[in-house]
Amino acid sequence: MKALITGITGQDGSYLAELLLEKGYEVIGMVRRASTESFERINHIKNKITFAQADLLDQLSIYRIIENHHPDEIYNLAAQSFVPTSWNQPVLTGEFNALGVTKVLEAIRQVDRKIKFYQASSSEMFGKVQEVPQNEKTSFYPRSPYGVTKVYGHWITVNYRESYELHASSGILFNHESPRRGLEFVTRKITDGVARIKYGLADKLALGNLDAKRDWGFAGDYVKAMWLMLQLDKPQDFVIATGETHSVEDFVRMAFEHVDLDFKDYVTIDPRFVRPAEVDMLLGDPSLAKNVLKWEPSVSFEGLVKMMVDADLEKLAPKE
Ligand code: NAP
Ligand code: GDD
Repeated sequence: MKALITGITGQDGSYLAELLLEKGYEVIGMVRRASTESFERINHIKNKITFAQADLLDQLSIYRIIENHHPDEIYNLAAQSFVPTSWNQPVLTGEFNALGVTKVLEAIRQVDRKIKFYQASSSEMFGKVQEVPQNEKTSFYPRSPYGVTKVYGHWITVNYRESYELHASSGILFNHESPRRGLEFVTRKITDGVARIKYGLADKLALGNLDAKRDWGFAGDYVKAMWLMLQLDKPQDFVIATGETHSVEDFVRMAFEHVDLDFKDYVTIDPRFVRPAEVDMLLGDPSLAKNVLKWEPSVSFEGLVKMMVDADLEKLAPKE
């Protein structure tokens, strides 16, 4: 089996590449040209992956990569994935996350309709949530340009499935984190901050809204669900979540407690990190994934916080 992963240099791309290599897949990694390589997350498996340059902005490059490598499965993980940036660069975010999906689907339609397709949809689509918990039937009400672009990506995937009978599915993934999470996302910002404070490299951690609640899981678990979805005979969309919600403050408290510190002595609130419109609470209902995919998360909230703090402590440990 051969799989093409867009966004292979990202958090999810790195875990998915590991999983597919373990399963004996040939992995093609789509990367965009940069003046310096951003392969930090996949350095350990770099020599097992075939890299090919293409960009979500460039239809022809996407068509060529699919025609040249002819994968059995395509996982479209590439995106402008940071919500605050979507207010500063709304058009670019739309080009990547909305029209970029259309470009991949259109190339599949042209090259071979049997290629299976996975789209990285997001719980951000639920935004101002219309019911609790959120499941596959819950209406979308996005609260950021990012969320709006993901709704487009979601529906164009449904549309190509229904129009051309593609095996195209969306995973509506709730927040998932890991030691490989980008430093600007709140969980990693916190665990990196805790490690810096513990080692005396920083004395404060500036955050935004501590009341926001998220359904946080471990990225390594979530990429398994992506693969399981493409092994089904019929394409279908799934919510992937833990079924638990916690506030940013819960995460902060637990992370500081793990190194025997009290977050109240270090955390400050900086309005720069408060968003123009907030997603106050997300809580997913993963029942369908449990029943159909037999998928279950393996890492608890507490386990995730500790895993991430420990990884940052190790990363920043003073050299002997
Ligand atoms: P990430 O770490 O930010 O990785 C994003 C990837 O997209 C990077 O490899 C980046 O490449 C690539 N990329 C960005 N723009 C591109 C372009 N124009 N052409 C080609 N590649 C481009 O994101 P992630 O956390 O792994 O998330 C993976 C996907 O799942 C994203 O679509 C995200 O929106 C979605 N999602 C994530 C979560 C979550 O909690 N993590 C939840 C729901 C949905 P460079 O290295 O070149 O920048
Ligand atoms: N980033 C950040 N930085 N967020 C903060 C901060 C801060 O200093 N302080 C509080 N927060 C709050 C945000 O306001 C938000 O409510 C919550 O922490 C989570 O923010 P992020 O970690 O940036 O993630 P996100 O929920 O906006 O988006 C992530 O999850 C989506 C799925 O729901 C991203 O991975 C998206 O790509 C993904 O689709």
